[in-house]
Amino acid sequence: MSAALLTTTQQEDYQKNGYLIIRDFIAPEICEHLMARAHQLIENFNVADVKTVFSTQDQRHAKQLYFLDSGDDIRFFFEAGALSQDGELVVEKHKSINKIGHALHDLDPVFNTFSRTHKMAMLAHDLGLRNPLLLQSMYICKQPRIGGEVTCHQDGTYLHTKNKSVVGLWIALEDATQENGCLWAIPGGHTTPLKSRFTRNMQDETTNTVLDDSDWNLANMVPLEVPRGSVIVLHTQLPHMSKENTSAKSRHAYTLHMMDGHDEFSNDNWMRRPANKPFTGFI
Ligand code: FE2
Repeated sequence: MSAALLTTTQQEDYQKNGYLIIRDFIAPEICEHLMARAHQLIENFNVADVKTVFSTQDQRHAKQLYFLDSGDDIRFFFEAGALSQDGELVVEKHKSINKIGHALHDLDPVFNTFSRTHKMAMLAHDLGLRNPLLLQSMYICKQPRIGGEVTCHQDGTYLHTKNKSVVGLWIALEDATQENGCLWAIPGGHTTPLKSRFTRNMQDETTNTVLDDSDWNLANMVPLEVPRGSVIVLHTQLPHMSKENTSAKSRHAYTLHMMDGHDEFSNDNWMRRPANKPFTGFI
């Protein structure tokens, strides 16, 4: 496969900034199709099955097996503001979900097909992944009014590999603006070594190990406002975040993380795959 998707300038921008915005990567009708599928998944999901909140502020999800064992499943996580103190939904079901994860790309036919298109494979190739493996997918809703903040982090904290080959694709299914909680990132921040590692031991205990306790220079953050259909490519060490969504508009996005198959996925990552469900590539 020849490098045909990214221009030299785009490749240089990615190397320099640690992120790359590609507009018009996905057609609007495909965005609609993915949103309709997510709507259907939420429709069919039984709220009583689980009440797990995803919060990067208190990490309350991280101790729950419902979260820890979602690497080879499709599971649903609530916005913190969607539940009362008694654990009852205080917003309608379709406005309650923070995200769906983490194996949509393997288990859901619509997201599987979308995640494995030739265009995706070309992008992975142009980003230098020689034998790309799809690790994780998330459908993120960033709900109106209650869409939670995602604090500044590097994805390598959570998806660690020996040779740092992980690349994230963040695909805007709706316009992402400062108003509804777009991504923010520190240009060039990907040269910062990992500041922490989030690990899981054999007893399913999780630990956040701080490797560098200096503060992020949040003043250097820039908003990555993008129209629907854009993809933002994220380097594994790029510091990024998103603020609360206090607006009346949702901010739906689909994310897909990949690694080079020649790299080594660390076995103390929170996400695990059973031996009979290995990561696969664009097949
Ligand atoms: Fe992230």
